[in-house]
Amino acid sequence: MNRVITFKIFKYNPLSKYSSPQFVEYKVLETDGMTLFIALNMIRERLDASINFDFVCRAGICGSCAMVVNGKPSLACRTLTQSFPDGIITLMPLPGFKLIKDLSVDTGIWMNEMSRRVESWIHSDHTTDISKVEDRVEPEVAQEVFELDRCIECGICVASCGTKLMRSDFIGAVGINRVARFQIDSLDKRTDEDYYELIGDDNGVFGCMSLLACEDNCPKHLPLQSKIAYMRRKLVKVK
Ligand code: SF4
Ligand code: FES
Repeated sequence: MNRVITFKIFKYNPLSKYSSPQFVEYKVLETDGMTLFIALNMIRERLDASINFDFVCRAGICGSCAMVVNGKPSLACRTLTQSFPDGIITLMPLPGFKLIKDLSVDTGIWMNEMSRRVESWIHSDHTTDISKVEDRVEPEVAQEVFELDRCIECGICVASCGTKLMRSDFIGAVGINRVARFQIDSLDKRTDEDYYELIGDDNGVFGCMSLLACEDNCPKHLPLQSKIAYMRRKLVKVK
């Protein structure tokens, strides 16, 4: 027989003077293979049409459904209700980002600012001629760049990060991973001195306290700690 799951969901609309932060309880009959995406849609269709949450791909690709599930930042579309044996699931919005409403946060503003800070584009020493064959990249280098490019900007590493919660300007594992991606890429002609100017301080690579929650929770299993250590080794030699 299917069990009843209890959801305790954070609700708050920061734009309404009538709203105050609270947890609201909902009961849902569990179905086989039920994800939090399915359960939240069921709650919105049958119990509370006002509840806000974000989903786009439902397949762990777009990064929009990240939320705190029983204390752990996770992708809701990839989390099965059956992973919680006691049948009680508490959902909260990701900390560290602007709250839009309920479980919905604006990671886009933060990611855009991070991309601007680390100048997240190839810095070439020549103008690209699209009529010519592309510049050659060694397959091993391309493979490593592709590996780091798998980041879906879900914000889970940022929300999991103790340093980020203490230091609001910390660039986060996602930002340092992004710099490592360009540092490894032979098409980018920036020097380690250039990268030092971007992240060579306590709001960058030297602020990380190596608590490891970024890598523990990253849904794409990116090698965040080894890339932070890699950038640290490179940049500590600069000055
Ligand atoms: S590094 Fe991982 S946890 Fe962080 S934003 Fe990218 S995919 Fe999400
Ligand atoms: S809905 Fe796209 S990652 Fe979950």
